[in-house]
Amino acid sequence: MNNSNSIKIIKGNIIFTSVPEGFNITEQGFLVMRDGKVEGVYESLPDIYSGIEITDYGDKLIIPGMNDLHCHAPQFRNLGMAMDRELLPWLENYTFPEESRFKDKEYARSVYSAFIREIWKQGTTRIAVYSTVHKSAALQLMELFEKSGLGAYVGKVNMDRNCPDSIRESAEGSLADTRELLEASAGKDSLVRPIITPRFVPSCSARLLEGLGELAVEYFAPVQSHLSENKGEIEWVKELHPDSSCYGDVYDKYKLFGQTPTLMAHCVYSDEQERELMRSRGVIAVHCPTSNMNVGSGMMPVRTFLDEGIRVALGSDISGGHTCSIFKTMVYAIQISKLLWAESGKQISFLSNSETFYMATKGGGSFFGNVGSFEKGYDFDALVIDDSELSTLGYTIEQRLERFIYVGDDRHILHRYVQGKLIEEPEL
Ligand code: GUN
Ligand code: FE
Repeated sequence: MNNSNSIKIIKGNIIFTSVPEGFNITEQGFLVMRDGKVEGVYESLPDIYSGIEITDYGDKLIIPGMNDLHCHAPQFRNLGMAMDRELLPWLENYTFPEESRFKDKEYARSVYSAFIREIWKQGTTRIAVYSTVHKSAALQLMELFEKSGLGAYVGKVNMDRNCPDSIRESAEGSLADTRELLEASAGKDSLVRPIITPRFVPSCSARLLEGLGELAVEYFAPVQSHLSENKGEIEWVKELHPDSSCYGDVYDKYKLFGQTPTLMAHCVYSDEQERELMRSRGVIAVHCPTSNMNVGSGMMPVRTFLDEGIRVALGSDISGGHTCSIFKTMVYAIQISKLLWAESGKQISFLSNSETFYMATKGGGSFFGNVGSFEKGYDFDALVIDDSELSTLGYTIEQRLERFIYVGDDRHILHRYVQGKLIEEPEL
C-alpha cells in the first residue's frame, strides 16, 4: 500500500458528513483511494477500476476516524477518579502531583503506552494532546505515537508559575526546551508533530507567553491551550492581566490566538467579545462536555458558537473527562445541548446527530489537514464498524450509526485506518 500510485478499493456502507446538516450515505458503496487519499465514493464501481482487488466489508459501516482535539496523556492514570473538586483545587490536589511523576522516563513510558493503546481501542485516529513540562517525556510520547501509526500533535506543557516546584520551569528553560522540540521536528514529514502548549494563562509569566508567541510565529507552529473554563479561573486571569479586555485577549496580545492554527479548550464562559475575537482569528473552540460536567465547570453554549461562525471540535480532556471515546463525547455534547434547549424554553436548538458527528470528524479533522471526510483528496482515516449484534431488528444505515454511537463501544470497532493504512493494536 505504501508504494506510490497504489490504488485500493473497499466496499461497505459508507457514511460521512461533508457538511454539518446531514449525512452522506452510500449503501453498499465503493470507496477508492490512491496513496492513502480518497479518490471517490461510488454506488457502482467505474470501469477504470475494474480488475483491482476489492476489500469487501459486507454489511459493516465505514466511517471517518475520530479526532480528539483536547486531551492530557499524563492524566491517564487518574481516569475515572478524583472528581470531587472544581478546576483549580482539582489541578492542585490531583493533577499536578500526578504530572510531577513524569520526570521519571520509565513511568512516562508505561502510562503513555497504556494511553495510546486506549485511544486506539476507542477509535481515535488523530489527537491533539498535552504531555507534561518534561522534555524527555514529551519526546517519548512523540516516539510512541510514531510507532503506533496514529496521528498526533504533541505539546510539551509550558508552565513557570502558580504550580508546585516539582513541575515549575524557568521561562528561559521552558522556551529553550520548546525550541529544541520544534527544531527536532522541523522539515520532517510525519503524522506526529509538536504543538506549542502554554498550559493556561495563570501558569505562564508574561515573558513565557511572549517567547512562546515568538516561537509559534517563527516556526509557524500550532498552539493549544485552555480558555474561559471556570468562573474562578476567569477572575484570576482578570487579576493577573487587568489591562486585557478578556481572557482570550491575553493570548492574542502574545500571538497565541490564531496567528497560527490554534485550539482553545472549553470556552464555557466566553462572552460576545471573546467569541468575536475567536471568530475573526479562526481559533477553534474545543468542546469537552465530560470534563465540563465532572469538574463542575458548566455548559458551553455550542449553538451560539456555531451560529456565529466559530469552528467547534470535540475533546475528551481526560482526566477531567472520564472517557477517551469520542463517540461517548458526542453523546454528552448532544445531552448538554438538550439541557440548554430546555433551559432556554426551547429557544436554543439542540445539536443534531450529524452536526455532532461533523465536529468529531471533518470539523476537528480540519486541524490536521484534509482529514475527517471521505470527499476527494481527503486522507483515508476510517473505522470499520461491525454493529451486527446491535442491528438485528431492521434499521436504516443512519439509524445504525446513531445506535452504535449511543449504545455501541470499542468491541464493535473492527478496523482502524490512518492515511489508508490499517493500524493494528500498538505494541509499545
Ligand atoms: N486548565 C489548566 N490545566 C488544565 C487541565 O489539566 N485540565 C483542565 N480541564 N483544565 C485545565
Ligand atoms: Fe484540559
